[in-house]
Amino acid sequence: MNELFTEAETARQKIALGEKPKWKVDAKKILTAAATEPEKVASPEYKAFAASYLESLKMLKKCSPAEAPERFKMLAMACMNCHNALCPGPRKRIQKLF
Ligand code: HEC
Repeated sequence: MNELFTEAETARQKIALGEKPKWKVDAKKILTAAATEPEKVASPEYKAFAASYLESLKMLKKCSPAEAPERFKMLAMACMNCHNALCPGPRKRIQKLF
């Protein structure tokens, strides 16, 4: 998660400069992320949020630079949606992505 956060933060800055962000973290790891509370990530709810996150990331990766700011917002929303439902703690940090 911390990797995801750092990468999203870097991408936000790149997009603000009109550059194409690089995505190095294997985002699919989110599906199997080792959590401090494993039962949380095993739930169908978690898997649904994770799938929607991966979908937003895919859209962001293939969109044009002009669309990137909007797509990035959708990605950050996907972070936030899962956190609203399952893990409210880091929401303050995620809010910084907007
Ligand atoms: C599918 C649900 C889900 C999505 C999507 C998601 N997270 Fe998380 N996140 C979690 C859960 C659950 C935890 C708590 C992890 C644990 O229990 O170890 C967490 C933890 C975190 C933490 C705290 C990490 C730590 O070690 O203190 C941060 C920061 C974070 N997420 C940021 C993000 C960002 C940024 C995104 C989008 C790029 C994102 N998350 C997307 C579920 C999600």
